[in-house]
Amino acid sequence: MFTIKDHLEIKNNHLMIGGADTTVLAEQFGTPLYVTNESRVIGNFSSYRKAFPDADINYAAKANGSFAILRMLAREGAGADVFSFGELYMALLAGIPRKKILFNGNSKTDFELQKAVEIGIKVSVDSLDELHTLSKIADSLGKTVEIAFRVNPDVSAKTHPKISTGLRTSKFGIPSEEVVDAYKEANGLPGILPAGIHCHIGSQILDTTPFTEATHKMMDLVEKITGLGINLKFVDMGSGLGIPYKKDEGQAPTPLDHAKAILPVFEERTKALGISPRLVLEPGRFIVADTTILLARVNTVKKAARNFVGVDAGFNLLVRPTMNDSYHHVVVANKANSKPEDTYTIVGPICETGDIFAKDRTLPHIEKGDLVALLDAGAYGFSMSSQYNGRPRCAEVLIKDGEADVIRSREDFVDLLNGQKLPARLM
Ligand code: LLP
Repeated sequence: MFTIKDHLEIKNNHLMIGGADTTVLAEQFGTPLYVTNESRVIGNFSSYRKAFPDADINYAAKANGSFAILRMLAREGAGADVFSFGELYMALLAGIPRKKILFNGNSKTDFELQKAVEIGIKVSVDSLDELHTLSKIADSLGKTVEIAFRVNPDVSAKTHPKISTGLRTSKFGIPSEEVVDAYKEANGLPGILPAGIHCHIGSQILDTTPFTEATHKMMDLVEKITGLGINLKFVDMGSGLGIPYKKDEGQAPTPLDHAKAILPVFEERTKALGISPRLVLEPGRFIVADTTILLARVNTVKKAARNFVGVDAGFNLLVRPTMNDSYHHVVVANKANSKPEDTYTIVGPICETGDIFAKDRTLPHIEKGDLVALLDAGAYGFSMSSQYNGRPRCAEVLIKDGEADVIRSREDFVDLLNGQKLPARLM
């Protein structure tokens, strides 16, 4: 049986978020609508902080790059993991200090590397080829850039294959057995200062043992690199902590469990080596996923091979179920306490068979005009949205003490033309 999360509640049969009635929000701002609860973001960030009191928490901006969220986290003292110049630009603009940012990525452009060097951002280097490009750029600018190598530790994260990043076959990082030689090479290069080491084994991880395995493997490398006389100032273990999307599957690990999987090994090994690098973590999903719901209005109900409920949001707004078979819990927001009566498949309006949010869910009786809430939509939701099928993106609102502020306006139909031009012959 679904138990509602602590920052969501039901009042008068309506789903409430952060004290705001979702049916009122849908009337006021229209649908589809992303709704984020500010205090939940802050609360989730504090849980990480408490679990890792001595670590640097670099928020993974890709999970939700909305400016208001970056700003909130900047004020809480978060750093950032950025994967593009766009994310770097937004993070800096939001007030995240450059010293707290690591520029990640397996295929950065020369422009991105140059910007990192000019601004003074640490770079996670993904290949020897990139190392040499970066060295040339830094040297030509007369600057030195602090780097980490992204290690491929060959650890199975026991998660969906599409979001496993630390397997030997993954496109990310340098194979562990080549990493020590990479540091030797970096050590002598102009413009390069080896300052840290980095890995990230995957996402939506619900069993913490791979974190421990990865920490052991990373500390083995740290030992060898320290033996080269290189002083590593930070060890970045990435992130990947999962959240309980399915409400009836028992407990998901917490940041404290994440800490228990990493800290004992990290502390013991650094002590034995007599070194004191900073531990860095890069949580994205845990900070934002459960803070946000996506509200969608029911356009039509049809009994066919399945009981299809067509809503006004599609995978252009939340692609996770289509792309990674991800589960999102569904609540009929205007009948949140009503008795489940039938089995429904919630689908979007996109012209693709895979445009399905939820299959065969037992829900209260649904009819046209009802309001559906997709829970836990705050991570990799809006940030992966598109205008596919000629659909302007929806608005986002932020709730604080029951009051809503628009943090992103609904796109208009004219926005579909943004940046497009007609050659003279087509005028
Ligand atoms: N650090 C690096 C280098 C990453 O690539 C990622 C996520 C993170 C940190 C944050 O991981 P998290 O704490 O959020 O698990 N779109 C997929 C997830 C892709 C994850 C990409 N990298 C999804 O919707 O599940």
